[in-house]
Amino acid sequence: QRQEKIRNFSIIAHIDHGKSTLADRILEHTSALTQREMQDQMLDAMDLERERGITIKLNAVQLTYTAKDGEEYIFHLIDTPGHVDFTYEVSRSLAACEGALLIVDAAQGVEAQTLANVYLALDNDLEIIPVVNKIDLPSAEPDRVLQEVEDVIGLPKETAIPASAKNNIGIEDILEAVVDQVPPPPGDPQAPLQAMIFDSLYDPYRGVIVYFRVVEGGIRPGDKIRMMATEKDFEVQELGVFTPNPEARDELTVGDVGFLTASIKNVGDSRVGDTITHANRPAPEMLPGYKRMNPMVFCGLYPVDTNNYTGLREALEKLELNDSSLQYEPETSQALGFGFRCGFLGLLHMEIIQERIEREFNIELITTAPSVIYSVHLSEGETIYIDNPASMPEQQKISSVEEPFVRAEIMVPNDFVGPVMELCQKKRGVYSDMQYLDDKRVTIVYEIPLAEIVYDFFDTLKSSTKGYASFDYEMIGYRESSLVKMDILLNGDRIDALSVIVHRDSAYYRGKAIVEKLKELIPRQQFEVPVQASIGQKIIARSTIKAMRKNVLSKCYGGDVSRKRKLLEKQKEGKQRMKSVGNVEVPQEAFMSVLSMD
Ligand code: GTP
Repeated sequence: QRQEKIRNFSIIAHIDHGKSTLADRILEHTSALTQREMQDQMLDAMDLERERGITIKLNAVQLTYTAKDGEEYIFHLIDTPGHVDFTYEVSRSLAACEGALLIVDAAQGVEAQTLANVYLALDNDLEIIPVVNKIDLPSAEPDRVLQEVEDVIGLPKETAIPASAKNNIGIEDILEAVVDQVPPPPGDPQAPLQAMIFDSLYDPYRGVIVYFRVVEGGIRPGDKIRMMATEKDFEVQELGVFTPNPEARDELTVGDVGFLTASIKNVGDSRVGDTITHANRPAPEMLPGYKRMNPMVFCGLYPVDTNNYTGLREALEKLELNDSSLQYEPETSQALGFGFRCGFLGLLHMEIIQERIEREFNIELITTAPSVIYSVHLSEGETIYIDNPASMPEQQKISSVEEPFVRAEIMVPNDFVGPVMELCQKKRGVYSDMQYLDDKRVTIVYEIPLAEIVYDFFDTLKSSTKGYASFDYEMIGYRESSLVKMDILLNGDRIDALSVIVHRDSAYYRGKAIVEKLKELIPRQQFEVPVQASIGQKIIARSTIKAMRKNVLSKCYGGDVSRKRKLLEKQKEGKQRMKSVGNVEVPQEAFMSVLSMD
């Protein structure tokens, strides 16, 4: 029977351990993709992803595999994104599976995201097949890593498959293990339809393409369907699977993984985790685990050229079609003019959106420093939520402020315990736990304000551990902190886009660091510019940008023409990233500098 022959699985791994490479090998060993058709790293769809070498959007392919027992099996390989910002998407794509290949790099061993992914897989009751990849590397230590798999993850090392995705070693063993160990999908094809959405993608010609897994019942083109969370009804137009090219199907039933289109205008109507059912024969309840994704990190986006305001709005509208977790609303800044306050799942998500706006829509942006949402209790009893430091009420009106905290799990070699603890302490972290994985590595757990890690935490962590640390975090809720708003004044004017919320104890030190940094970053003007940091009416730090002495251009007098033109062009480029604030020219970096510590 067909249902017995289906195997639904994902590949989970820490970044760079070889997930995409293994997925490519699996594609080659299954349905007949010719080498020419086979683009490198088939599953990573967007250019940006390929450039950054990370997987953002998940996808699913249907493959057929003839096993050693002579039977033909249907594999659905579901791709998962590999970054902390997208944990919920990972958890939903795993919920569409019965098994997971857990890749561990034979040289690097188990990392923070390896563990985080294992927990997600266990939450979803998946059969986990460990694969120790990159055994071809001279630095590979498969025995040590196998022991780690057993000690840290708790999977018997005998079950792990040694492999090299690059050199095509161990691939058959992996495919056979999928057949033998991953259970076929349960479910009743006659039951009312329940299908889980694990991804969706906006296509300008067909509307939203919904990726789903049928859990109960079956679905056909022409069916009237209902999205249970959003309570919207649609009519199925196209139905099919990716092999990896899209192929139409007359019906998808229990255990099938595929796509549909139904003239859906906005991905917000088909949210990840939602359940699809039939409008005329609805399932009694939704599949478990639906969660609406809320943005965690906010920043202001302003066009460098004010004429691009409409263009920026259109860009955000287009991006939102494809990304239901992106939020934005118009915002006006005295300093920067008209722009948008935007909300993102995390820092990577924020960077990706900024980059896409600049690259795909050709709009240069000034972005303000990222902020979290603060919960502010007013003396009058009301509670307000603030995602922009500039809108923090006056100190006298506030009775207390709460900020979001995360539980950060950091894995490092023993030698780096000192620097990591020092960093976490500096970021107002509260020590929670430390565990030795073996005689070489340790997991350190801290509770840290999200605001402290949204900026340069990860970069600093990497550099202070020579790149050996891996990191993962989860939200643990709001806690009261002693926070104050610090304003920055240029030439006596308060610059709203530079306001920042800081801890009272470090306010003086931070204020000093920020004014010094701004003095460095803001070029000399025709006149002297005082830079000040203030809390309320009180100035706590001050420095001065001296006036320009001579015309800088006179320096490049003479020399050959092309060189001079290059210089001028370079200056022009540099200049585009400037914004006149009052009568002072301020470069992009200045807006970020309010978050730097030293
Ligand atoms: P993300 O998409 O960022 O999660 O990374 P990934 O886990 O998909 O890793 P990817 O497949 O992109 O591989 C990362 C790097 O490791 C690439 O440079 C691969 O060529 C290399 N790599 C993958 N498998 C092997 C292997 O078996 N041996 C060796 N030596 N290198 C490998």
